[in-house]
Amino acid sequence: MITGGAIVVGGVTYYLLNDKLNATAAASQQTDISKLKLTPDEREMLSLATLAPSGHNTQPWKFSVEPNTIRIYPDFTRRVPAVDPDDRELWISLGGVLENLLIAAQHAGYETETDYMLDGTAEDHIAVRLKKAGIRPDSQSVLFGAIPLRQCTRNEYDQKPVPTADLNKLETAATGAGVTPMLFTGAAAIEPMLEYVNAGNDRQMTDDAFKSELTEWIRFSNGEADEKMDGLASRVMGNPSLPRWLAQLFIGIILNPKSENKKDDGFMRSSSGLMLFVSQKNDRAAWIETGRAYERFALLSTAMNIKNAFMNQPCEVPELRAQVQSNLTLNGAFPQLLARFGHSPAMPRSLRRPLSQVLVIKE
Ligand SMILES: Cc1cc2nc3c(=O)[nH]c(=O)nc-3n(C[C@H](O)[C@H](O)[C@H](O)COP(=O)(O)O)c2cc1C
Repeated sequence: MITGGAIVVGGVTYYLLNDKLNATAAASQQTDISKLKLTPDEREMLSLATLAPSGHNTQPWKFSVEPNTIRIYPDFTRRVPAVDPDDRELWISLGGVLENLLIAAQHAGYETETDYMLDGTAEDHIAVRLKKAGIRPDSQSVLFGAIPLRQCTRNEYDQKPVPTADLNKLETAATGAGVTPMLFTGAAAIEPMLEYVNAGNDRQMTDDAFKSELTEWIRFSNGEADEKMDGLASRVMGNPSLPRWLAQLFIGIILNPKSENKKDDGFMRSSSGLMLFVSQKNDRAAWIETGRAYERFALLSTAMNIKNAFMNQPCEVPELRAQVQSNLTLNGAFPQLLARFGHSPAMPRSLRRPLSQVLVIKE
């Protein structure tokens, strides 16, 4: 049960350090986190878990640590209802967190058991039980090494094709429980998907609620980005650092269908290919599995020096999602994420909030 700034799990009360209601606790974060007495393994696993992607970089997660168990909770105070009214992308983000945590745990020599504690309530979370298994071959070490390097790279790619053998490996990585990737390569396959992206921009960039939510999460200046350590930093998107008051004067010119479509045309047409993640079901477990599959794809791409970024408009706008579902004959399966991939230089990195802001503490 969530009560103000606390969660009760199995009769134990956890206080939420980053709950706005709990400002006093937040002010003494460093002291509080030291009370947790995290082991170096736990600290590393949690830090790597938080490097997962999230819509608008809201980082909608919290963690609790008990002996041999780490729990991942949704942080509904960081919902983005205009773009994600069902919290679908929020749970996809938690899937990425889970995947990073499991890869890091395996690398540190743990056996893991994952339980999805999902009954559609505010108490829903993911429990990861850890058992030290000693040193064993780490089949995921390539993915482990890519966790700190992965990013959504929002620039134009060089159009060069990815060899078929590498595409096959990416498709395997992108396949999960009930999750299937659909690959689009070559202009003839990419152009129709670009039409959905443009139609998505036409809707989203004329939707005041979408635009004002997005504007709230843009960190226009470097100072704002460094202070908040979340959201969409201008520098990550290749834009100059501006004071918020000044940027807001121009936001109407920046966020409009024409300029977004022009930018996305260049992004899509310069890509080597697209990967559409499709799931059989459309519930919290399916969203988590989609996030896990995407994260494996993104980590393996990173290890292969292939960049990727999302073009999720066709999965976010309900009418377009329905069109994609029927026009691509998905037989009732659900389009969840659309990513483009290719080769380009890295962009500046997105920041993450420190563990002191995402850990919940046992009373
Ligand atoms: C479920 C989900 C949806 C996302 N949708 C978009 C999107 O439509 N467009 C976009 O440019 N980035 C999208 N992103 C990427 C996030 O903005 C990005 O992960 C976040 O800013 C953190 O940056 P990083 O992934 O480079 O660390 C999405 C990420 C997730 C997990």
